[in-house]
Amino acid sequence: EPTLLADYAPFPFTVEQVALTFRLHPQHTRVLSRLSLKPTTEGQPLHLHGENLTLISLSLNGAPLPDIAPDAEGLTIPAALLPATAFTLEAEVEIAPETNTALEGLYMSGGIYCTQCEAEGFRKITFYPDRPDVMAPFRVRIESDMPVLLSNGNPAASGPGWAEWVDPWPKPAYLFALVAGDLVAHSASFTTRSGRATPLNIWVRPGDEDRCAFAMDALQRSMAWDEQVYGREYDLEVFNIVAVDDFNMGAMENKGLNIFNSKLVLASADTATDTDYERIERVIAHEYFHNWTGNRITCRDWFQLCLKEGLTVFRDQQFMSDMRSAPVKRIEDVLTLRARQFREDMGPLAHPVRPDAYVEINNFYTATIYEKGAEVIGMLKRLVGDAGYKAALDLYFDRHDGDAATIEDWLKVFEDATGRDLAQFKRWYTDAGTPRLAVEDDWQDGTYTLTFRQETPPTPGQPDKPPRVIPIALGLLAPNGDEVLPTTVLEMTEGQQSFRFEGLSARPVPSILRGFSAPVVLDRTAPPGERAFLLAHDTDPVNRWEAGRGLAKEVLARMVTEGAEPAADLLAGLEAVVRDECLDPAFRALCLRMPAEDDMAQTLHASGVVPDPDAIHAARKRLQLALAQRLAPVLPGMIASLANNGPFDPGAAAAGQRALRLACLGLLTRLDGGEAATRAHAQAGNMTDSLGALSCLLDAGRGAAELTAFHQRWQGNRLVIDKWFMVQVLHAAPDRLAEVATTLTRHPDFDWKNPNRFRSVMGALAENHAGFHHPSGAGYRLLADWLIKLDAVNPQTTARMSTAFETWTRYDTDRQAQAQGALQSIAARPGLSRDTGEMVGRILKAG
Ligand code: ARG
Ligand code: ZN
Repeated sequence: EPTLLADYAPFPFTVEQVALTFRLHPQHTRVLSRLSLKPTTEGQPLHLHGENLTLISLSLNGAPLPDIAPDAEGLTIPAALLPATAFTLEAEVEIAPETNTALEGLYMSGGIYCTQCEAEGFRKITFYPDRPDVMAPFRVRIESDMPVLLSNGNPAASGPGWAEWVDPWPKPAYLFALVAGDLVAHSASFTTRSGRATPLNIWVRPGDEDRCAFAMDALQRSMAWDEQVYGREYDLEVFNIVAVDDFNMGAMENKGLNIFNSKLVLASADTATDTDYERIERVIAHEYFHNWTGNRITCRDWFQLCLKEGLTVFRDQQFMSDMRSAPVKRIEDVLTLRARQFREDMGPLAHPVRPDAYVEINNFYTATIYEKGAEVIGMLKRLVGDAGYKAALDLYFDRHDGDAATIEDWLKVFEDATGRDLAQFKRWYTDAGTPRLAVEDDWQDGTYTLTFRQETPPTPGQPDKPPRVIPIALGLLAPNGDEVLPTTVLEMTEGQQSFRFEGLSARPVPSILRGFSAPVVLDRTAPPGERAFLLAHDTDPVNRWEAGRGLAKEVLARMVTEGAEPAADLLAGLEAVVRDECLDPAFRALCLRMPAEDDMAQTLHASGVVPDPDAIHAARKRLQLALAQRLAPVLPGMIASLANNGPFDPGAAAAGQRALRLACLGLLTRLDGGEAATRAHAQAGNMTDSLGALSCLLDAGRGAAELTAFHQRWQGNRLVIDKWFMVQVLHAAPDRLAEVATTLTRHPDFDWKNPNRFRSVMGALAENHAGFHHPSGAGYRLLADWLIKLDAVNPQTTARMSTAFETWTRYDTDRQAQAQGALQSIAARPGLSRDTGEMVGRILKAG
């Protein structure tokens, strides 16, 4: 049943031209297709994918084919019926967008017709070879009385009730898009470097057009950046973005017509937080960058997904670090990588960056493909250098424009451009699992030696892991804090390897894995004081933060396992950083952020300790209290001095100030029971401050009146009401979580078929670590019951959310039994989707 990388075979026909006509109707949409096909291999039958399509008619070169009946997966025309040369196949099918709750194919969101085809949604629209290596030019005619009718490419002609679009660039079907609705545009333009003035439109529902300016600005900056940094220019006469409220993920890079989850487009000071702004900027850039890395050069098959996703994430990360603070951005990326990808890589869902088998491809849009895929490119760049990277990328665009390419093609351009052999490096693509890097050091006669040992634990289906190439960025500091060795990249290729540094006058302090130069777990039992020293002196900001982080984790671990007291060196180190006005406020805010509870559970589990969620929760609170007490004299002053009463500025500097101010407010709330937060909430002039203060209040067991007022004020704004749901669940006390979440599911605004709303309650439920893993099992059961319910309408979002259970075997046997019961209740559900069935099956195998 699984699809295998090893089974790849080219499609035996080329599609020279696709012409589609859509007669839109909520329940009875007719799709007429005319495919110009040409056999490339003799005597092959023609397989076309198609799912849930009502076939109205089918003809070949004008002659009806009445005897061809589709099965559940599509239709096959036997070789005997096919001409040996070019031919035309015409089909008419009927579909019902209004009842398409899976949000894949053509569906309706708030009265707007829209599509989502990646990975395999086009087969729910018409019969077609729905695979990324079949690329063709599309011509689309839309007939509908909706005022705005959009598809890919360039507008060709239109009249009352119809419009035609022509996309000159051959593309795979997963990049097809169609939108029809009562929409208004926020418009601007961008003049490309060769002087083409290109209209840009962001299409939204009437009333939302005043919340598009930031996304538009991000788009213009993305277009300029891709020209400057990668030499990539936009290639159509118009660029359209549409925001819809019902969307399974973030956004989609359809050629010339990106479709977005509205939460990644709409922003205004009073409705969006700084985190929202940052995400919008990143995702706008990400989808735009796909125009070259994904669309002009696409993937041969879905096993190569990281070819476009890893590279496009890497590009959006570069963009964001150019737009904002590079170290802060890197720290944020490291946090997400560990929270999502390391978690995945250490559990039952671990898979290689390039998998070699899948049951449902939608289940492989993972942190490993995206985030680790980007890390692998970052390592490549470090190994070949900036010039080598640039040469390789130029060659990639040159050689593969118009291709459906593979990871082999990608690595070959690096080999050809730089002369490097990447055979061993390729293991980063083929081998799952996070390497653990142990390090020991030695000092003798003026020579300092670092010895590294790498080991990757087994992952499902991959018991043995040969050594990988690990770029280890290293700096050495003298005891007085001077840097005696500036950042140098050590290239580790063996299972164990030593590196010697001579001519030093004193034993140095090593700063290892600077900039987080490889996605590995560094196992270093640092001598006492080393982390505190690095927190105070490291010249590499990422490692400076990392030192504080490592120290906090060590302290928390001892508090959890030995009942230790919060250590003074951590508190002193954090105080010094927080009070250092030379440091970026965003950086200081990151240093103040305690390790997440799930992160602590992951760390304890990896070191062989069964994590106790309640003990972790309690220890984290105690540490926060101790830090608050230590900082008590400075908190009110900092909160006051960081206040900004001018107009809202969504930029990184102002956002950093807000982040630091809210971090201080969070600490102060531990001391004053919420007095300051109550005032801050009343005075908040933007959503960041409002939601931040509200979170503090909820943590302190207050905020009931504020919650009511918040709902009143924002009724009717779906994105803000999502936050209202989410904040209550995230900040519920662990033993009240299931009750709070259950009550919210009974609220009239809990529209569970809307993925954003569902996630705002159920996603938050799983993120409330101590609450979700409550020993009663109530959190597990509540989520399982809702996943069962959602699966019947939306398998993709259900399967994705089932990953909440991927860590279940970390915990004690009672919790495991509860989680296993919940998982089994999902697995046993008659009619469970393939998506959820695959995920729950893999997760259960860990037991
Ligand atoms: N390509 C899109 C992006 O990276 C995501 C598409 C996700 N599709 C899916 N079936 N999960 O922005
Ligand atoms: Zn992407």
